[in-house]
Amino acid sequence: MSIFQLLDIEKYYVVGRTPAGEEKRLKALDGVRLEINEGDTVALVGESGSGKSTLVRLMLGLEQPSNGRLFFRQTELRQLDRQARQAFSREVSFIYQNARGSMNPRMRVGDILGEPMLLHRLCNESEVRQRVSALLEKVGLSASMLDRFPSELSGGQVRRVAVARALASEPRVIIADECVAGLDVSVQAQLLNLLRTLCTEMGLTLVFITHDLGVASYLCQRTSVMYLGCIVEQGPTVELLTKPLHPYTRALTDSFPSFDRPLNAALKGEIPSPIHLPQGCRFSTRCPDVQEACRHKDPPLTLHPGENRAVACLFPLRVEVGVT
Ligand SMILES: Nc1ncnc2c1ncn2[C@@H]1O[C@H](COP(=O)(O)OP(=O)(O)OP(=O)(O)O)[C@@H](O)[C@H]1O
Ligand SMILES: [Mg+2]
Repeated sequence: MSIFQLLDIEKYYVVGRTPAGEEKRLKALDGVRLEINEGDTVALVGESGSGKSTLVRLMLGLEQPSNGRLFFRQTELRQLDRQARQAFSREVSFIYQNARGSMNPRMRVGDILGEPMLLHRLCNESEVRQRVSALLEKVGLSASMLDRFPSELSGGQVRRVAVARALASEPRVIIADECVAGLDVSVQAQLLNLLRTLCTEMGLTLVFITHDLGVASYLCQRTSVMYLGCIVEQGPTVELLTKPLHPYTRALTDSFPSFDRPLNAALKGEIPSPIHLPQGCRFSTRCPDVQEACRHKDPPLTLHPGENRAVACLFPLRVEVGVT
């Protein structure tokens, strides 16, 4: 059953005016189509500025799309009534990219974690401390953290509290924005294992934003690759990473460190400004395989014949049989 359905979602921000007085628009999302079903584990990958965080802010209803429609369980998100919105906030949890900034600095860890439990009536006051301690243990923190303020925690500890808070309401869907990046590898492994167990054993739906393709393939069965506000390729993670169809996906996999080959600086230059999108294909200015037609046509995301994959490229890479 579909949990989220995004139909041609656009989001632009007005970032100034031209000398002629016209609005200068930055297109953070430029026609995203995405369906997420119950139990799906989906990675969103793509360079900084490709629109990943904007997409999840819309999915959480924190901002409204400029165009397009966004459904949560067949109802348009903006039309959820009060009761449905409350159910949504219990069912869908979010782990912010900026964990410390997402916490009230005046609340102690015990209250930060206990609040969703009481709000959603998962237990009564007398049980909260014990439940919170158990939750802290799950994310590798001791109960001695209960009385601390966020400012008294290290960066890694705050990130783990953020994961614990997302789990506190016993959600069915977790949306996580770079929640393990920069953590010690042992802590990262612990949190990834925890999330993976929750997905496999409890059928949790996961939308996981990451720059780390290894993390994407460990946690998520499907991956959507974003570039300049669009999904340019999507499909099963392992196939997509081992046999990319879009030159941008190949560039991402080539620039991912691996023990057995030298590292390629696969992509030249920076992602162009979303205020001035390139003519034609949005990747044409950096694509190593660019052809004349690419400078004139922006290819839509299309199902690739014979593959369980969709790609937005006029000249998708050939999938060579036997090559992994
Ligand atoms: N409130 C805003 N006002 C103006 N521009 C914005 C706003 N929020 C995001 N943007 C712009 O939209 C584009 C997409 O931003 P977004 O934060 O979604 O990228 P991202 O893929 O999450 O990047 P990162 O990997 O660095 O977190 C960027 O060019 C960003 O500067
Ligand atoms: Mg982001």
